[in-house]
Amino acid sequence: MDLSVALGRLSLANPILVASGTFGYAKEAAPFVDLGRLGGIVPKTVTSLPRAGNRPPRIVETASGMLNSIGLDNDGIDHFIEHHVPYLSRQGTRLIANVAGKTEDEFPSLVAKLDLVAGVDAIELNLSCPNVSGGIDFATKPEVTERVIRRCYESTGKPILAKLTPNVTDILSIADAARQGGADAVTLINTLVGTAIDWRKRRPILSNVVGGLSGPAIKPIALRMVMMVARKVAIPIVGVGGISTLDDVMEFLIAGASAVQLGTVNFFDPSSSMRMLDDLPTAVASLGASSVQEVIGTLEWPR
Ligand code: SIN
Repeated sequence: MDLSVALGRLSLANPILVASGTFGYAKEAAPFVDLGRLGGIVPKTVTSLPRAGNRPPRIVETASGMLNSIGLDNDGIDHFIEHHVPYLSRQGTRLIANVAGKTEDEFPSLVAKLDLVAGVDAIELNLSCPNVSGGIDFATKPEVTERVIRRCYESTGKPILAKLTPNVTDILSIADAARQGGADAVTLINTLVGTAIDWRKRRPILSNVVGGLSGPAIKPIALRMVMMVARKVAIPIVGVGGISTLDDVMEFLIAGASAVQLGTVNFFDPSSSMRMLDDLPTAVASLGASSVQEVIGTLEWPR
């Protein structure tokens, strides 16, 4: 069974990746996962300077999901390059660094820094963090999305993934802008903005009041967005949003995702990626295919 897939210029041994912010910098997950078997690792978003993130509480469990308002807590790009890339890049899988700029100018400068770093195979632009001021604004207006991505594209020879927000009325125009800007793939979707209230105290639970909803609760929305973009925009897609079983993985592949990222499931079933990889060949073969590539985007649309 050929499990390999391609995201533009980035080739992957298989389509199962882990999503940014749900896997730390991989050391924490190593007891549960044979890291070298993954198609790729996307570590936590890094920014130009260290950030403490938002005040706690910043996580709430919800029905079939989780709200987070972490606020891009990280030690900054220099720390990432010095302390995390050496470990991550030794694991025998693809390393897709994830960056977020505070301004349009910061994105290409972060990307240019990573361009020089051996072991970083690709760069995912977090254009869609709902927990910091202006965080989703890079993926809510097509002209801004295209401009930021083009500047990043011109700053590196490495493949670029654009992580988009579902908190828009027209995902197609944003995905197409990402394509025009030069992205190798779009990652669909980041979290949906939600809130949680402690009614007895008449207070929001999150210190930030709102947070991003992830987990199985959002899977149908993510699947719809992947399906829509796959039908209308010629760009590879990485599906993410509530994927927690191999059936979910197969649904995203059939809908048109070339790869998937596992996110919230890493918190409640940290070895799930390994079982999915064990069972993926049989699921693909059950469709009469001998490669993952053959099943991508084969959804039969009702007449
Ligand atoms: C966060 O750190 O607030 C989460 C990152 C994101 O949702 O993009």
